[in-house]
Amino acid sequence: MLRIEEVAGKKVLMESEIPFLKLFKKGKVREVYEIGDYLLIVATDRISAFDVVMKSGVPSKGIYLTQQSAFWFKFIRDNGFSTHFVSADLDEIVEITGEKRLLDLDWLRGRVMLGKRARVLPIEAVCRFRIFGSAVSALKNNTWIWDKIESDEGLVEGALIKNGPVFTPTEKSETDDKISFEQMVKLVDSPETARQIKETTIELFRLCREHALKNFGFEIADGKVEYGFIDGKLSLVDETFTSDSARFIPDKSKEVFRKWLVDNNLKKVATVLPDEIAMMVSNLYRSQCQDMKIEGI
Ligand SMILES: Nc1ncnc2c1ncn2[C@@H]1O[C@H](COP(=O)(O)OP(=O)(O)OP(=O)(O)O)[C@@H](O)[C@H]1O
Ligand SMILES: [Mg+2]
Repeated sequence: MLRIEEVAGKKVLMESEIPFLKLFKKGKVREVYEIGDYLLIVATDRISAFDVVMKSGVPSKGIYLTQQSAFWFKFIRDNGFSTHFVSADLDEIVEITGEKRLLDLDWLRGRVMLGKRARVLPIEAVCRFRIFGSAVSALKNNTWIWDKIESDEGLVEGALIKNGPVFTPTEKSETDDKISFEQMVKLVDSPETARQIKETTIELFRLCREHALKNFGFEIADGKVEYGFIDGKLSLVDETFTSDSARFIPDKSKEVFRKWLVDNNLKKVATVLPDEIAMMVSNLYRSQCQDMKIEGI
């Protein structure tokens, strides 16, 4: 059901509805529809944290996320990596799919991406240049299960990993448990696929971090990407280096919202965001787009 609400006097898309397309998947944040051989990925303005979806949304968040993702997917594709990305331009999407009825859906503009359907692998390829949160605790309690790290700064929040980036995968599940490389081998198809995921992720994170530092003046500190097989080829899917899926310096990511929840004793609570918090997050995500020089934002 199409659900558009109002937050701080602005429209917020809480749920999409495309009556003439079949819903493929409803995620915490995005709704994915089937369209011919492709998938249409619609980013709503919902926000989730610690795996809980909040009761209210963040103005234009889905637009900011889609634009950030589209930028990085194009950059990644232009650098020779295989991805699911086809287009984030509604007119182009209509041209490719022939589905003119999409043009009648005003609320769709800016928040829709056409992708190739993949068999998504059940892991999150997390990669870190710096240690934060769960990585610091794992190192402190000796539950670090990945490649050894070196740092001159000690086990403190934000310490740079000298031999970084380091690949620290998790299992895609309710709890997003951390998994060792050997556990990952069992979850993906083969040791060869696991090795390819690790190598590709490290190369990709290096490339994008360099680009962001040089051209945009911010650093990608950590993040996660997802992979799937498209026509037998390992490809990047889902979203890339967005304010929902990465952490930046200066930080214009969901981390700021997570911290607000924790500070207010709201961790794992589906809460209604006060208007000023919804706007703080909205402005942060927009500012990340502006740092990336995304036009029209
Ligand atoms: N190319 C693709 N082919 C198939 N599925 C995809 C593709 N790209 C993204 N997806 C899936 O679409 C969903 C996007 O929605 P969202 O990110 O809101 O989900 P989520 O709550 O994170 O769900 P999950 O826990 O299943 O990842 C994810 O499940 C993601 O794995
Ligand atoms: Mg997701």
